[in-house]
Amino acid sequence: MFCNKIELKNFRNIEEASVEFTDGVNILLGSNAQGKTNLLEAIYTASTGKSFRAAKEAELMRFGCDHASIALEFTDTRRQRMEIKYAAGKRRQIEINQNKITRLSDMVGRFRCVLFCPEHLSLIKGAPAERRAFLDEAISQLRPMYLVSLTKYEKILKQRNTLLRNAQDDRSTFTETVSYWSEALAHEAAILSRFRESYAAQVQNFMQTCFAQMSEKTGKTDEVPTLVYKGSSEQESYQDLNETKEIYKRLLSQNLEREIYAGTTLYGVHKDDLEICLGGKAARQFASQGQQRSLALSLKLAEGEISRKESGEYPVFLLDDVLSELDFARREYLIEEIKDKQVIMTTCEIRDEAYGSANIIRVRDGRIERTEE
Ligand SMILES: Nc1ncnc2c1ncn2[C@@H]1O[C@H](COP(=O)(O)OP(=O)(O)O)[C@@H](O)[C@H]1O
Ligand SMILES: [Mg+2]
Repeated sequence: MFCNKIELKNFRNIEEASVEFTDGVNILLGSNAQGKTNLLEAIYTASTGKSFRAAKEAELMRFGCDHASIALEFTDTRRQRMEIKYAAGKRRQIEINQNKITRLSDMVGRFRCVLFCPEHLSLIKGAPAERRAFLDEAISQLRPMYLVSLTKYEKILKQRNTLLRNAQDDRSTFTETVSYWSEALAHEAAILSRFRESYAAQVQNFMQTCFAQMSEKTGKTDEVPTLVYKGSSEQESYQDLNETKEIYKRLLSQNLEREIYAGTTLYGVHKDDLEICLGGKAARQFASQGQQRSLALSLKLAEGEISRKESGEYPVFLLDDVLSELDFARREYLIEEIKDKQVIMTTCEIRDEAYGSANIIRVRDGRIERTEE
């Protein structure tokens, strides 16, 4: 996958910009609050349909503006153009090669990237929701069906939660309606958990290799990381889809009174987690901070490797201020791993020799200055 070019209008603090990227490492360079992350955010948004830091689309429009646009040109087997247009009070519009896209699942996965930001370094120690988000993002880019199921799941969950809340006052038609939503929820839960389970198994493979290589540089350890998807159904893995669905259904029906009391759905894939261990012990409790960082980096690198395995080519790596957060050995390793792929990264200062041939793009006050060197 190759990111050729991005054109922005009124996106965050960028009034208008057109930036071309080259093979290998591209560095967005500038001091704080100039718009480096904004640019990366725009590229990421053209990949996943949503920002990694804005809660609302309206935040993406430049202050005082009522519209904004992103146009991304990328090449997989051929050159393509993705356009996203935002206008105040309207649904955003997406076009790929001038064809209107109405479903997010038709857009996600066209331009594939792997994003590393400093928050990812706490993937191991962080809340389960962060690890679920990792899975959701990664799998959605590879399997449009996953995103379809996830979107349905979230809608059903909302409906079912509303029903549970209202049941505290009125139970007249409750039983029938809730069993309809439980059935629907269990159906999607089974699909999603199967995808997550098999993705987790793939991550584990690559993660073990990455972690072992990193340990060579950071201090030898023979401990082997493992990673298992922990479904709230506590099922043994590799059951068929129907069995998995029945397990979720049973959990939902057996705990209905508790759920009514809580006013929310207590079981399902929105409660699941990835269990990451090092030498058989829970990494979030027992691994050192350095080991946790190595594990988190391995997770992200594994995401790139799986994407390549599935699609035949590496995704574009987007790094937001990650290198400056890492110690020398981990930084060296990460650069070594990704420098022959396309990388677009932000930084305040360049301090490593490894960037010798990088394409440097200076960002100042929302404007791009291409340096001639
Ligand atoms: N919707 C917006 N309109 C205009 N400016 C914005 C908007 N959202 C954020 N900004 C500005 O963008 C700047 C931060 O840009 P950012 O890309 O995060 O900086 P950095 O170069 O440090 O990565 C801040 O000055 C912020 O005020
Ligand atoms: Mg930034």
